[in-house]
Amino acid sequence: MRTQVGIVGAGPAGLLLSHLLHLRGIDSVVLELRDRDHCERRVRAGVLEQGTVDVLTAAGVGDRLRREGLPHHGIELRYGGAGHRIAFEELVPGRSITVYGQQEVVKDLIAARLAAGGKILFDVPDVKPHDLTGSPYLTFGGEVLECDVIAGCDGFHGVTRAAVPQGELTTFERDYPFAWLGVLARVAPSAEELIYARTPRGFALHSMRSPEISRFYLQVPKDEREDAWPDERIWSELAARLETVPGFALKTGPVIEKSVTPMRSFVTEPMRYGNLYLAGDAAHIVPPTGAKGLNLAVADVTMLTDALARWYETGSAEGLDAYSATCLRRVWRAQHFSWWMTNLLHTFADEDPYGERLQTAYLDYVTSSTAAATTLAENYVGMVW
Ligand code: FAD
Ligand code: PHB
Repeated sequence: MRTQVGIVGAGPAGLLLSHLLHLRGIDSVVLELRDRDHCERRVRAGVLEQGTVDVLTAAGVGDRLRREGLPHHGIELRYGGAGHRIAFEELVPGRSITVYGQQEVVKDLIAARLAAGGKILFDVPDVKPHDLTGSPYLTFGGEVLECDVIAGCDGFHGVTRAAVPQGELTTFERDYPFAWLGVLARVAPSAEELIYARTPRGFALHSMRSPEISRFYLQVPKDEREDAWPDERIWSELAARLETVPGFALKTGPVIEKSVTPMRSFVTEPMRYGNLYLAGDAAHIVPPTGAKGLNLAVADVTMLTDALARWYETGSAEGLDAYSATCLRRVWRAQHFSWWMTNLLHTFADEDPYGERLQTAYLDYVTSSTAAATTLAENYVGMVW
């Protein structure tokens, strides 16, 4: 089998790349480890920056997003017994975010690819990249896929980054001493906007997917097991962390899904080795507090599409040569913002009273200074580059 771009991974990065390349007349094949159902059911991100919505809309996969996505014009920071709204419409006029589940984006992209005759091979074990600095090809289950370039869109635990010889990539990492328990529940949201709550019991986030479905996250110990969290414990802990302002009552309902996500910051430099280009979580991870991971993946593959199209159309490799450095500028901005939001809002077991006072002092600053609130809002809705 032969194609122009061999894509490993059918997450948002791989699927969108395949679709954008198709729109530019470039052929690709996507190889995915898991089955279609698994990919479409994986509950993860929910916040789409304006730039991400624009890319999806321009690519013709924005219809359901426009109908079902929930536009948000602010978020609440809740701490010390009070809520403080970060009002996007005042701080960053004309810019907002849309809440729309990552699994819905994945469903829309898979449907669009298949409708256009695109090739996505699901349930493919043992994908291996070869000859990355020569004529690259992928092998899987006795088959060979030859290509001009390989796009590594296979997430943090994928095989493409691991195929690069040792010493060719530099990695930068930070671990956090806690994880998030993500909870999807069949219950109407308890507020109209997202609530980021810092409490002495730990962080909690109130989010949503639709008028009938709520999404929550709880800071839990690293390596926590899901079965330590029966539904009653989830609801009582969410109530303890969110019902901290007068008049707020948490609505409860059946839990549909729950899972623990480790928190990590991670960057690979460069995001290229020979004819392998890394994109999305395969190249970088941010803790989800800043809601940036999916948006970075979309930005990477948009950039990669332009660079590949230019190369195929004109023979110029200038865009491809600039790919890594261009992406990394945005990636590091998002790294800083995600690290900063994480530190601001979580409880650290080894924190002394001085550190706690510093967190509160910074939250007070962010919620009372227009300059500081604008910084938060500008980063949250997505920097314009
Ligand atoms: P992935 O989605 O990880 O996709 C990689 C794909 O590659 C998967 O389908 C995987 O099965 C496949 N794969 C892996 N190994 C192989 C292999 N060997 N061979 C073939 N295929 C393989 N981001 C936001 O922007 N906003 C948010 O609100 C947000 N919230 C989050 C909440 C949680 C709980 C989590 C976990 C993440 C969140 N993120 C958020 C981050 C976001 O989900 C990721 O950044 C995003 O999924 C990255 O997409 P990707 O396509 O690069 O990688
Ligand atoms: C989500 O709705 O899944 C979500 C929202 C905001 C975040 C992370 C995840 O920061």
